[in-house]
Amino acid sequence: MDEMMTRFVSNTHRRTDPDWPADTVAAFSAPDISAVHRSLPEYRPTPLLSLPNLAHELGIGEILVKDESHRFGLKAFKALGSAYAIYRFVQKHLHEAGRQYPPADQFYRESTLPKGTFVFCTATDGNHGRGVAWIARKLSQRAVIYMPTNSARARIQNIRKEGAEVIVVDGTYDDAVARCAKDALAHGWQIISDTSWPGYEEIPRWIQAGYLTMFGEIHANNDADIDIVIVPAGVGALAAAAAWYYNRVYPEPRPKLVSVEPVGADCLLQSILSETGEPVSLKGELASIMAGLNCGTPSQVAWPFVKLGFDLFMTVTDDAAREAMRTYYYPKGEDPRIISGESGAAGLAALLTLCNESSIAAADARAHLDLSPSTKVLLLNTEGDTDPEGFKSIIS
Ligand SMILES: Cc1ncc(COP(=O)(O)O)c(C=O)c1O
Repeated sequence: MDEMMTRFVSNTHRRTDPDWPADTVAAFSAPDISAVHRSLPEYRPTPLLSLPNLAHELGIGEILVKDESHRFGLKAFKALGSAYAIYRFVQKHLHEAGRQYPPADQFYRESTLPKGTFVFCTATDGNHGRGVAWIARKLSQRAVIYMPTNSARARIQNIRKEGAEVIVVDGTYDDAVARCAKDALAHGWQIISDTSWPGYEEIPRWIQAGYLTMFGEIHANNDADIDIVIVPAGVGALAAAAAWYYNRVYPEPRPKLVSVEPVGADCLLQSILSETGEPVSLKGELASIMAGLNCGTPSQVAWPFVKLGFDLFMTVTDDAAREAMRTYYYPKGEDPRIISGESGAAGLAALLTLCNESSIAAADARAHLDLSPSTKVLLLNTEGDTDPEGFKSIIS
């Protein structure tokens, strides 16, 4: 098997009515998630766009794109997670300290947390760390953000602009996670990580739950009859939220769920294929341009949801991501133009690959997903041009 080829893996662990861990189910079922986001002055639902000409060209019924490049002015969906998790963490702290705190729908307008109470820290490839730094600044707290060696300069600068300290670690995203955990222990800092590991689970559960606001917005009018949802995946936290939403909240008939990862950074796909069906860590460099998806280890609390709730796991090449960025940027006919970064474009890269590839594996994947001329596909453009220079060089 060529390691650098696109792969399609149908999920033999899929369950129609999964039995999921109660503590994570409780986090997903919390009633205050969207209220917390509404308390942010920058909150607006992001656009849901249709690309009829591209759908026609690909021979499918409809392509809808949830465009997270407009989220909070941060150009990525990620702060939905940190905003909710930090609210839950601070609320718990203030409650235990016997102090007053504002209700969810006013939380970020009327914070009562004294300045400098916490140092929030996390590892990131850019978007999650920017979200943590943004929320820390709103609450007048310190933030220390760890990034892998190959992080784009613009992504580092955007985090520094929020007043956070950035530490560039000599290594991958997974190395940055380990260094952040070590420093947090040494200094008594509070980790706000989107990935989880044994013994560090509560905050990543809240982060996953925060992503549900995106799905709630997409289906606010209850008029979408989606057949396939394609989710760009790194550690799988967004995928876990999608698994929960489309297996439990969304009415039947439910859409098929597809996870897309970069070739060479496919920790979810490899975990699905592992003998035990348990998460495996990848060895090696993780050199994809899809920085947000360049992760070698699935999140512990995300895994059961991804494992039981998804239908297909696939990988895409960097070239496919570049082509998808250009396809969004140079639309067909009257289709709207969409600004999509490398990771954000992975969903469209997966759809283009699925529709256009002539291999037997691709044909099997199309059959597994019942892809037909009437199929309605939902894509999540999870980021815009968070690295403007890289973006320009790809679309020009
Ligand atoms: C733009 C973008 N899309 C998708 C993802 C994947 O999210 P997760 O790591 O929860 O799988 C990330 C993660 O950082 C991201 O930045």
